[in-house]
Amino acid sequence: MACRIAPSILSANFAKLGDEVGKVVAAGADLVHFDVMDNHYVPNLTIGPLVCEAIAPLVAVPVDVHLMIRPVDRIVPDFARAGAKIISFHPEASDHVDRTIGLIREHGCKAGLAFNPATPLSYLDHVMDKLDLILVMSVNPGFGGQEFIPGTLAKLATVRERVQASGRDIWVEVDGGVKVENIAAIARAGGDTFVAGSAIFKSKDYAATIAAMRAELAKVGQD
Ligand code: DX5
Ligand code: ZN
Repeated sequence: MACRIAPSILSANFAKLGDEVGKVVAAGADLVHFDVMDNHYVPNLTIGPLVCEAIAPLVAVPVDVHLMIRPVDRIVPDFARAGAKIISFHPEASDHVDRTIGLIREHGCKAGLAFNPATPLSYLDHVMDKLDLILVMSVNPGFGGQEFIPGTLAKLATVRERVQASGRDIWVEVDGGVKVENIAAIARAGGDTFVAGSAIFKSKDYAATIAAMRAELAKVGQD
């Protein structure tokens, strides 16, 4: 299974954001994970389309936008125009989940549905044929640097079964508390796309950390 490492710029040095994204892509990132928070759906406030537009041209890899905002639809076209390639949202934050997925795809982006630790997977029931990515939160959204919630592993296994049953190439992204020490267990449970914020950006050597993550994935036959 092809695996992807997606550093979350939430833990980057925002005073040097352009340099930071350049460095992390040079260090081997497959995606740049872009956390959007609104101080409403989640209790924190971060960055929006203007920042996406500024960094997208600097990186040769897709910008993976994770919307933790309510409402969702109004701002989807802005992110598509700003260079986002993947846009994920939380189903509780949209009144019309199918419509939002359609909107993201109509704007030429891959569509992802994001699940908080207590959000039931039943939101997948009628949309598996339209999803490109399922984002499984392994912390409650809002902040970087939190501990991975162990129950996520069982949930990931269920998600992986559902993806296999669909026969579609849907990425399974895991977000929150991912680090060198647990990435192999997360991959074994079914994740294939690994968001890591603090584990990468708080490390001294981004390339060494990403290489260590890939080495762990290789040990379990996922790289
Ligand atoms: C949390 C964000 C995550 C966060 C992950 O709400 O969605 O992407 O940046 O940070 P770490 O890897 O530090 O848990
Ligand atoms: Zn995220």
